[in-house]
Amino acid sequence: MAALLIRGGRVIDPAANLDAIRDILLADGKVVKIGSRIISRGSRVIEAKGRLVMPGLIDMHTHLRDPGRPDKETIASGTRAAALGGFTSVCCMANTEPPIDNAAVVKYVRDKGAAEGVVNVYPVGAITRGLKGEALAEMGSMFEEGAIAFSDDGYPVEKADIMRKALEYARQFGAPVISHCEDRSLSSGGSMNESALSTMIGLPGIPALSEEIIVARDILLAKKFGPVHIAHVSSAGSVELIRQAKKRGAPVTCETCPHYFSLTEEAVRNYDTNAKVNPPLKSTADVQAVIRGLKDGTIDVIATDHAPHTIDDKNVEFNQAATGMIGLETALGLVMTNLVETKALNLKQAIAKLTVVPARILQLENKGRLKAGADADVIIVDPKVEWVVEASKFASKSRNTPFNGWKLKGKVICAIVGGKVVVRDGKICN
Ligand code: DOR
Repeated sequence: MAALLIRGGRVIDPAANLDAIRDILLADGKVVKIGSRIISRGSRVIEAKGRLVMPGLIDMHTHLRDPGRPDKETIASGTRAAALGGFTSVCCMANTEPPIDNAAVVKYVRDKGAAEGVVNVYPVGAITRGLKGEALAEMGSMFEEGAIAFSDDGYPVEKADIMRKALEYARQFGAPVISHCEDRSLSSGGSMNESALSTMIGLPGIPALSEEIIVARDILLAKKFGPVHIAHVSSAGSVELIRQAKKRGAPVTCETCPHYFSLTEEAVRNYDTNAKVNPPLKSTADVQAVIRGLKDGTIDVIATDHAPHTIDDKNVEFNQAATGMIGLETALGLVMTNLVETKALNLKQAIAKLTVVPARILQLENKGRLKAGADADVIIVDPKVEWVVEASKFASKSRNTPFNGWKLKGKVICAIVGGKVVVRDGKICN
């Protein structure tokens, strides 16, 4: 592979606190150096003038649906969607069919990721066997086989005792436990946020408390038994609990998703099942609290929770519809449009939550940064391009997004994974 010189872009590397015009030289799958005016004979040159050059994004929370649901997504289609969205690494959740709850399935996903994926694929192992919440899965052997984290995402770990054991085990390997916080005694039967709107439009509600009670429980468990990472934070109450916990030094990190700072429950007023997610979209006050949490560092990471579903799963009565929305191809545009353009976050803060911070939590030392020796996972973004979301053109196999037709700012022009160009001129290279 010839060396690659990315020339004259505005390089944003939050890990190095860098935001300046620089050249970057990549060779043998690594970053060789960053500097002003690098001369490298024989290398391929990519002009990046007027564009942003940043570490490839890392999605801590992706559903690739492989094994089991190739009608929704495959590793091939999901990783292409990731690359087009600027994600050069994805962590794929364990709620597949069968679930990723033993070393053989971890190996299957890793091998298939290497063979068919265009970005790095890191399997997340289940916390409990069959995602049933009853008995711990074989966490040790999954970790040895390459599971990067543990989660029953899609389902809560209902028993505190099981969560305690998971935290105790996982801390031995340093792998994060990602908690889907939901008290099903409060949420079951519900399909949207419990509010005046749910009463008005006649949909059964899920109180924010369903998320918050388990956030509180997991903070208490983390203080005693080991770090926890809270998935998809959606409510003001959760943000405040995590803020206070961090102040007191609890080993808690968390993520939110673009839909929780871009949409309120108003998105389901017309029964748009594409806006049905778990946890459900909340009020304006919750959205503001999520944005404040992003701003003050309470919320560490932005993850997509890319959750592909078929048209048949969504084209039904609201109560019956599957929960989840796709997110890989819209996440960066939503961050740039709804957080950076609005000045809620500056570019460096926003990009940190998509690069070096998830890398740190996942212990990926050579990813999410651009220093010499780091993996050559780099993206080039045109910050000025405005584009309209057209789900029908997505690389994902699914179309379930409520953002169809939205105008977003900031487009991925080029994505490089391990030194190989996988997206060029905004298109997948074959
Ligand atoms: O909306 C969601 N969809 N939330 C989850 O936690 C799981 C996900 C899915 O797997 O579809």
